Amino acid sequence: MKGIILAGGSGSRLSPSTNSINKHLLAVYDKPMIYYPLSVLMLGGMKEIMIISTPYDRPRFEELLGDGSAFGISLTYKEQSEPNGIPEAFIIAEDFIGNDDVTLILGDNIFYGQGFTTLLRKAIKNHHYATVFGYRVKDPERFGVVEFDHLKKVISLEEKPEEPKSDFAVTGLYIYDNRCIDFARKLSFSKRGELEITDLNKEYLKRSQLDVQLLGRGFAWMDAGTHESLFDAAEFVKNIQQRQGFKLACLEEISYYMGYIDKETLFKKGKSMEKNDYGKYLLEIADRKHTQQYWEAIDRNPMLGLVENE
Ligand code: G1P
Repeated sequence: MKGIILAGGSGSRLSPSTNSINKHLLAVYDKPMIYYPLSVLMLGGMKEIMIISTPYDRPRFEELLGDGSAFGISLTYKEQSEPNGIPEAFIIAEDFIGNDDVTLILGDNIFYGQGFTTLLRKAIKNHHYATVFGYRVKDPERFGVVEFDHLKKVISLEEKPEEPKSDFAVTGLYIYDNRCIDFARKLSFSKRGELEITDLNKEYLKRSQLDVQLLGRGFAWMDAGTHESLFDAAEFVKNIQQRQGFKLACLEEISYYMGYIDKETLFKKGKSMEKNDYGKYLLEIADRKHTQQYWEAIDRNPMLGLVENE
């Protein structure tokens, strides 16, 4: 399974904050936005990940995350020269995907909830064709909307409908088999001038090959694409972190617990940032002993969920 983060777009909804910087590099409280979707792919078990951004922004992403070796993963980069829509990512990443299946996450999507890692890993392990995630929202007209019949069978999908047929949005996390590349090639541009991920999902739906998994009310899903939602997301992260003392989407922590980097590497990284909270947090983890108490603490950390046995 390959992973893709789509971090392109013009970011016009966050202007002027995004006039000179890509929105996915803006901070969501104490770390860049892109850390959050990257943490999701890492927790899902992906080690080969491509980041697709604009030609202008690509060097900034490379500067921030490098080749991924600092986190024990492989990161490669490609460009989407025009905001032509989400499915174009599969065409751009065709060589990278090869014959594999692929999970794509949008660079401004934040997921949080007890058991999310387990749910994602199961979805990846059990998926056959296409799996997407539905989430109840108050403003479905802003999203792709999925409609179910009384047996929870999917009957329709619509992109940003004026009159949504349900309150369930399709989140920006998609798991596909290799045919997504061919399907993406055959799509036509929508009225807003983009290839639509909803149209690609419809290709699977019409073959009865679309699985929609619902994230319940215990989950938080946010897209940080507007001033309001960016502020809300930052506040959410701050509140959880301050309450629990665990960080969300701390990439070094995840790679350490996944066994990708050793204690010494973690310690060095912490030292290089020891004057701020993020660095102090890394030092604190590097200092922990692997006691029962420690594992129990990890077990309680919903974002990591690394010891949630299946
Ligand atoms: C995109 C998709 C939409 C999906 C949303 C999730 O919307 O087109 O179907 O529900 O991401 O964040 P956009 O970011 O283009 O508004």
